[in-house]
Amino acid sequence: MDGFGIAISSHCNLNCKGCDVYAPLAKKEFVTYDQFCKDMKKLKDLAPDRDFDTIFMGGEPLLNPELIPIMYKTDEFFPNGKRAILTNGLLLEKMEDDFWQAIKDIKVTFGITKYPININFKHIEKKAKEYGIKINYDVVKSDKIYDLNSRQVLNENSEKEDGFDWSKNILDLSGKQDWIEKRFTCPHRGIVTYVRGNLYYCYVHAYINAFIDYFKVNIPITKDDFIKISDAKSIEEIDEFISKPKPLCRFCKQCHNTCYGDEPIEWFFSEKKITEWT
Ligand SMILES: C[S@@+](CC[C@H](N)C(=O)[O-])C[C@H]1O[C@@H](n2cnc3c(N)ncnc32)[C@H](O)[C@@H]1O
Ligand code: SF4
Ligand code: SF4
Repeated sequence: MDGFGIAISSHCNLNCKGCDVYAPLAKKEFVTYDQFCKDMKKLKDLAPDRDFDTIFMGGEPLLNPELIPIMYKTDEFFPNGKRAILTNGLLLEKMEDDFWQAIKDIKVTFGITKYPININFKHIEKKAKEYGIKINYDVVKSDKIYDLNSRQVLNENSEKEDGFDWSKNILDLSGKQDWIEKRFTCPHRGIVTYVRGNLYYCYVHAYINAFIDYFKVNIPITKDDFIKISDAKSIEEIDEFISKPKPLCRFCKQCHNTCYGDEPIEWFFSEKKITEWT
């Protein structure tokens, strides 16, 4: 394992239709600074020579009140690791100087997903410039701009920037996908994700609990689907866990045979319908 995404928060303040990490369905949950430190210390003890790369994400990472100390601690544990943050930008206007200082101090690659909503980026760009921080935008393609509060179309998006398609990552509730084959075909395999004490093979595995709990569907998560950091005996045990196919993939349609399970959809706010993910 070279690195992992960190579920800084599981929930979100935007709630996109068909969100890949089921944030619109998630309860308000954060990783705490204390638990994070305990788990990262254990990883450091198991692999003193490894500086893991980390991505602060979620859900919406800026919702976690302990984000700043968590970021500094990551730098302390893994000083030579690369670091990035991905945010929807909604809270950036309100972030105090200590946030911008932390991004600068520990050299976090700063990513904003630009959704088709009315955020004023002028102030954010000014603040980033003040601290010498480069913003990497990832633009969601859309013909429209929506008002955040009313969810109504504000205007047609005449200055449509080049961007990426929104899509639906389809789950297969029958659990009949070939999970061994996915080990070889899925581009998301091995995108390790840390959620409150556990490491998961892929972000779907890491966040799917919110989907299961919300819709009360029968997708069993077994002890083979995650590894608890505090129980790990060696870094080799974690590496082996990450390198093996996982039965939970049988519920995910990504990359089955020639079919890439994603289906392009128009971006909109989530209405928490199961069809957004099935
Ligand atoms: C899960 S979000 C977490 C960070 C933050 N909330 C954000 O939106 O940037 C991480 C990335 O996943 C992308 N993503 C999530 N669901 C998606 C979907 N259904 N289609 C395309 N991209 C998606 C987001 O656009 C974002 O760039
Ligand atoms: S993709 Fe949308 S709903 Fe999902 S975490 Fe990011 S902003 Fe929130
Ligand atoms: S098949 Fe689905 S659950 Fe399995 S690794 Fe790929 S994206 Fe993750």
